Amino acid sequence: MLGLEVGGNSILLVNLDNHIYAYANECPHQKSRLSEGALMEKTLRCARHHWEFDVCTGRGINPKNSCLKAFPVTIESRDILLDLDDNEGSPTESAPDRETPQ
Ligand code: FES
Repeated sequence: MLGLEVGGNSILLVNLDNHIYAYANECPHQKSRLSEGALMEKTLRCARHHWEFDVCTGRGINPKNSCLKAFPVTIESRDILLDLDDNEGSPTESAPDRETPQ
């Protein structure tokens, strides 16, 4: 699990069983950084008030009516490409060259 800035967006990357998921690094409750939370198997827990999310779907577990903002991910060679849908004509940003997030 890794938090990083990409194209002016704070992004959370999670590598779960060699599948990369990308979400806005902002809890839908009170906007804490989700990268400061904990990953327990497929459950992401916000550090601040312990809301929980399914990393595979972004859907809330507790509470169920919450949801993370997901970004489509494409892997090309060793690059992780994110479709940030930024409405500025460059919808795809390449994540900085870093270690693969865990
Ligand atoms: S800010 Fe994440 S649960 Fe409250």
